[in-house]
Amino acid sequence: MQKFNVPTPLGLYIHLPWCVRKCPYCDFNSHELRNALPETAYVDALIQDFEEHLPAIWGRRISTIFFGGGTPSLFSPAAIERILTEINARSAFHADIEITMEANPGTLDESRFTGFRQAGINRVSLGVQSLQDEKLKTLGRIHNREYALRAVDMLKKAGFDNFNLDFMHGLPNQSIDDALSDLREAIACEPTHLSWYQLTIEPNTFFHHHPPALPAEEVLWEIQEQGKALLTDAGFMQYEVSAYAKNNRVCAHNVNYWEFGDYLGIGAGAHSKLTHTDKQIMTRHWQVKNPRDYLHPDKKFVAEEKAISEHEAVFEFMLNALRLTHGVPLTLFAERTGLTLDSIQPQLKLAYEKKLLIDNPNILCPSELGHRFLNDLVAMFLGHAD
Ligand SMILES: C[S@@+](CC[C@H](N)C(=O)[O-])C[C@H]1O[C@@H](n2cnc3c(N)ncnc32)[C@H](O)[C@@H]1O
Ligand code: SF4
Repeated sequence: MQKFNVPTPLGLYIHLPWCVRKCPYCDFNSHELRNALPETAYVDALIQDFEEHLPAIWGRRISTIFFGGGTPSLFSPAAIERILTEINARSAFHADIEITMEANPGTLDESRFTGFRQAGINRVSLGVQSLQDEKLKTLGRIHNREYALRAVDMLKKAGFDNFNLDFMHGLPNQSIDDALSDLREAIACEPTHLSWYQLTIEPNTFFHHHPPALPAEEVLWEIQEQGKALLTDAGFMQYEVSAYAKNNRVCAHNVNYWEFGDYLGIGAGAHSKLTHTDKQIMTRHWQVKNPRDYLHPDKKFVAEEKAISEHEAVFEFMLNALRLTHGVPLTLFAERTGLTLDSIQPQLKLAYEKKLLIDNPNILCPSELGHRFLNDLVAMFLGHAD
């Protein structure tokens, strides 16, 4: 029997599913925009979607909002402002709410950045990926190095002092020097946050069907090790597998996912995870994925909803929390899963014995070995809860 005694923080994710062009490595729910952007219809649908879920979050304050995509910066500042105003008219925001928008350097000019800021966005996540033109071409990006650097300048001029740059490494034919030079230039842009992802080849992508030549394992390892050292020397603290923050300016929205907080997702294909203290259960649901279906007048927004079982709660908590480099307080397990620590005692004991968790009775945190064998560590919590 689960018991939720402590309020769970709540984030709001808003999915805007269109892009100018589909990148060959991308398996996100993003769709090439072939006609005019159905901006008004989509914003109407988002507001209706949010309204339908109001009873499930009644009385709760929203701590973070994240506009993800797709390419949210394809939407006009006026549309973003309307979304935020309508949502705020129906729910309360925390005073220090973080409101992030993903932006693509190929879709920006200075007035748009200023407009987004006036609309209420206070954090931007810019998808740079690389600053080498040849790599950007291979990745099928619509921007080049010059556009990316100009976009960074513009967002600074617009007054964004909190911004993230997305970079990828392990790119086709990338040398160690290529990857490190990208990182050095990323650091020189003075972001507060860097997301540094290793390129993965996902099923159902162009790269999956036409595999590019990727760097050898030893090169990938060196890129990782030397890259981490470079970032640390520049004052960036790694706090998750791919996330680095300066002066502790972590992405609060993502931290809430990793700490197994609650989130409501609106928009095509968005996922939600909610704790219902009245019923003492947690549920997960997701919206219809195709934007056409999402916009259909007779649609139901929710494609599927199910309760999260105790087994799933344990596994999902570990899957998320153990990604955090510095772990979480052990007490968070009971707060977020509603279960007692007794229910995972055998697995914890084994993980300590195998030295996959650090030896600290107050913190749940992978050891260096645990970080290296994270999948094995997480798998130990698969299907175990009384
Ligand atoms: C949801 S995407 C959206 C950002 C924005 N649309 C863009 O691409 O500029 C967030 C980030 O995930 C990363 N990403 C996407 N696909 C990836 C893959 N297959 N492997 C590694 N990182 C990936 C990219 O760095 C991307 O900027
Ligand atoms: S711009 Fe971003 S979301 Fe769109 S296809 Fe490329 S990686 Fe995916």
